[in-house]
Amino acid sequence: MSILVTGGAGYIGSHTCVELLNAGHEIVVVDNFSNSKPESLKRITELTKKEYKFYEVDLLDKKALETVFCENQIEAVIHFAGLKAVGESVEIPLHYYYNNITGTLILCEVMKKYDVKKMVFSSSATVYGFPKHVPITEDFPLAATNPYGRTKLMIEEILKDLHSSDNNWGIALLRYFNPIGAHESGRIGEDPNGIPNNLMPYINQVAIGKLDKLNVFGSDYDTHDGTGVRDYIHVVDLAKGHLKALEKIISTTGIDAFNLGTGVGYSVLDVIKNFEHVTSQRIAYSFTHRRSGDIDKCYADTTKAMKELGWKATKNLEDMCRDSWRWQRSNPKGYEEETFK
Ligand code: NAD
Ligand code: UD1
Repeated sequence: MSILVTGGAGYIGSHTCVELLNAGHEIVVVDNFSNSKPESLKRITELTKKEYKFYEVDLLDKKALETVFCENQIEAVIHFAGLKAVGESVEIPLHYYYNNITGTLILCEVMKKYDVKKMVFSSSATVYGFPKHVPITEDFPLAATNPYGRTKLMIEEILKDLHSSDNNWGIALLRYFNPIGAHESGRIGEDPNGIPNNLMPYINQVAIGKLDKLNVFGSDYDTHDGTGVRDYIHVVDLAKGHLKALEKIISTTGIDAFNLGTGVGYSVLDVIKNFEHVTSQRIAYSFTHRRSGDIDKCYADTTKAMKELGWKATKNLEDMCRDSWRWQRSNPKGYEEETFK
């Protein structure tokens, strides 16, 4: 029996594939490379010394997806495939709704047809909208502030309805906080297209000399130093959380949401200082106006994941900065070309 990983060539998917293979799972990966490169798949094999099946398939192509289920004995699905850039989702909302929601509907239809009723879904802390206070527990009110966030919220609702219609489904909704870092080998990591929107890839590109300086969005937030506070989580810890969630859904039915974060909040200045300390690179920055839609503080209460999944993040901010930098330094152009190590 195999675990189907949709979006397995992407940032979180590739790290999860490594953990799945290392744990002895057989996997089948599906990706359309809309936001990833085939090189990441080669590196999964390089790191694990294990082979696995890959299909270049778009989830919107139902026939092609059915072939995947027909040719393999799929036990459960870890569903990463989706578009994730908040700003882009505001500009091309229909594309986001179509890709993320229709893609998931088609996946669920095919799963149902092949009697595969186990899914781990990539949700996001974005479903908490503007949380009233921190730390955030899973029972906080849900709201979305942009089309990307709404796709996550809608998919969560769709999966809840699916479970209500048939209690044999076992579904974990994993609400990630801020995944950063890279595999400690420096062979796989985050490879954003164009100028990064998110903090850590931006810092990396300043450090490597690709970008001049970081704009720190806002210095007057209600936080210890005035800059935004987030719950950064190492991508390998996050990947391991998927294995724990998988164990749970395979052995039980039901639908449940889990926060995957560290439970600790760091400000933008904390991240810069930490990065500078562990990498000995100076990060030039200046303060600028707040980014629209940003909140002051966002961090998780992770008690539920600890109690019900037996999962806890183990890596700290230093590990995250060190591993991000190792990946960036040894792959200055991402997966584009092999460079010095
Ligand atoms: P990513 O873009 O690196 O990976 C997503 C993968 O899905 C890509 O390889 C892309 O090519 C593929 N894909 C997209 N649409 C597809 C389709 N229709 N058919 C087949 N493949 C398709 O993103 P990531 O950071 O690895 O995120 C994975 C998931 O986690 C996404 O659903 C994202 O929304 C969610 N998430 C990410 C973050 C984050 O900060 N990275 C935070 C919260 C939630
Ligand atoms: C972003 C997404 C969110 C997603 C989350 C997970 C936006 C608006 N939100 O959240 O939907 O779930 O990633 O990865 O994109 N910052 C700077 N300068 C920069 C970039 C960021 O100061 O150039 C600050 C931000 O203001 C924020 C912090 O760094 O305080 C983290 O930002 P970012 O990495 O973009 O993540 P989020 O905004 O938390």
